[in-house]
Amino acid sequence: MTLGAPRLHLRVTDSTSERAKALARDAPHGLLVTAGEQTAGHGRQGRSWSAPAGEGLLMSLVLREWPGMLPLAAAVAVAETAGPDARIKWPNDVLVADRKVAGILIEVRPAEGWAVLGIGVNVAVRAFPAELRDIAGSLGREPRDVEPFLTSLLSALARWLTADAAAVIEAWSARDALRGREISWNGGSGTAEGVDADGRLLVREAGGEVVVLDAGEVHLGRLG
Ligand code: BTN
Repeated sequence: MTLGAPRLHLRVTDSTSERAKALARDAPHGLLVTAGEQTAGHGRQGRSWSAPAGEGLLMSLVLREWPGMLPLAAAVAVAETAGPDARIKWPNDVLVADRKVAGILIEVRPAEGWAVLGIGVNVAVRAFPAELRDIAGSLGREPRDVEPFLTSLLSALARWLTADAAAVIEAWSARDALRGREISWNGGSGTAEGVDADGRLLVREAGGEVVVLDAGEVHLGRLG
């Protein structure tokens, strides 16, 4: 499964995922769009994604086939490429030292036969806006490291997007940032207890009942 060819690199664009989606219907599996800078980068739940020009990896891949475990498999690939200290906040934020260094946005159109996997990694970002300073992090590398990071990430993605689900869950669980921690979401709170075989988050509520979350946003609480 070749990923990353053909490749369209744009010095500046609105969003690599918007460009990839515009090409997706006629694109081969593995088409890659990258950019040095985005003017309208976006993430999940209507969030925006920004990085100073040349300091972040900004990429979107068109996939014509993808595993059910895509959100978790992509996170494992990004975390593995980021290094041994990288952890994953369910479902697929990648953290180092509890700060988010990478975000993943997956948009799927099964009827049209494509998925677009958008990934932003703060490879060499030096400074964040005040409102992100406590939650965003960087790998602390140099701008010249962005391209080699992409090369390594593409090969990790090729492996993890074709791995079997049990292997993905095992690798994901080894990097679980939430396990044993108190978390809350827009429907309750409890202690994170890992993921099930389908990648859904398990949370034990104060009363002892285990809740299964398969979508939505989990907010890190204090260490439990
Ligand atoms: C998130 O954390 O909510 C996901 C962030 C995804 C950001 C990447 S940057 C490259 C691609 N283009 C976008 O507009 N978004 C993704």
